[in-house]
Amino acid sequence: MIELKNIVKTFNTKNLNIHAVNDVSVTIEDGEIFGIVGYSGAGKSTLVRIINQLEKQTSGTLIINGEDISKLSNNQLRKKRQKIGMIFQHFNLLWSRTVFRNIELPLEIAGVDKETREKRVVELIKLVGLDGREDSYPSELSGGQKQRVGIARALANDPNILLCDEATSALDPETTESILDLLSKINDELGITIVLITHQMEVVQRICQRVAIMSDGYIVELGSVKDVFARPKHEVTKRFVQNIDSGKNIDRLQKDLKALYPNGEIMRLTFMGGNSDKPIIAGAIKKTGLLVSILDSNINHTKLGVMGFTYLHIPNGDESKTNEFISYLVENDVKVEVV
Ligand SMILES: Nc1ncnc2c1ncn2[C@@H]1O[C@H](COP(=O)(O)OP(=O)(O)OP(=O)(O)O)[C@@H](O)[C@H]1O
Ligand SMILES: [Mg+2]
Repeated sequence: MIELKNIVKTFNTKNLNIHAVNDVSVTIEDGEIFGIVGYSGAGKSTLVRIINQLEKQTSGTLIINGEDISKLSNNQLRKKRQKIGMIFQHFNLLWSRTVFRNIELPLEIAGVDKETREKRVVELIKLVGLDGREDSYPSELSGGQKQRVGIARALANDPNILLCDEATSALDPETTESILDLLSKINDELGITIVLITHQMEVVQRICQRVAIMSDGYIVELGSVKDVFARPKHEVTKRFVQNIDSGKNIDRLQKDLKALYPNGEIMRLTFMGGNSDKPIIAGAIKKTGLLVSILDSNINHTKLGVMGFTYLHIPNGDESKTNEFISYLVENDVKVEVV
């Protein structure tokens, strides 16, 4: 369990004092995947750097697995830190070392003997799916593969916590999904607690159980991912939730839907905020009598009106009715694309 109690971090620079983290109190449970979301400068990185004590808090208490971190000697702290792995947006690999030697590094630092090290590295390479690439250099790897090396390295000393700072932000949507699948597997199989920082709400939606939204150093909202998505309260949260579709792997979703519904038409409706509260889809169904199914949807009720998208399936049949259906939607300010 990671307990943050009234954590404050102030950077005193020449011209001003920056309050990077303001009175943050939160408890992260063992084995959960906990998301931290916020815009640039919100204090997310500072907060996770406090968790592994790369940064010391100005005030407040950090308790990890029942131990008050401020009470540890340097030696105890070093040991504790080995049990907290971390991965980064830009991987932070050593370019002059092979995959194998990058993963081996933290074991060398921990003073593990050569034989044990090599055995462990082989296990880790298998775990992250890099078999056959052990002698490659980072420059010879794709972004996703580099992050796999980063993950293996972070897991080398058997940590019980893994901190991920924008670990998928430099990756394309497909690769992001594969890395998130790997993180889920690690969480599942090894029971490692994951604290995941991101500005991509869809990342949170995909793998986190709970999420904290940070703004100006404060946690402005905290709750289960489901609740936060269904009923975002704070303005910053609402903005994140609205943007969710923009980062979704639309190509993949559409391909999957096409495979599931090979017959008939699939349409993507975009609600752009101008729509009234009128039940538009119901209206179109009533008008045409078409038996339409909703396949996927992400609709948010914002101050600007209804925003989001919906995928509909219209069964094979009456072309003029289908056209009438589309016209009705378009008349009501809904963007319609046939997938
Ligand atoms: N070492 C430092 N010295 C001075 N100010 C700092 C330092 N580290 C961070 N800050 C400031 O603290 C605030 C929070 O920074 P932090 O890096 O934690 O934000 P973040 O949420 O991780 O942003 P991003 O999404 O861009 O990574 C920012 O205003 C930043 O300029
Ligand atoms: Mg950051």
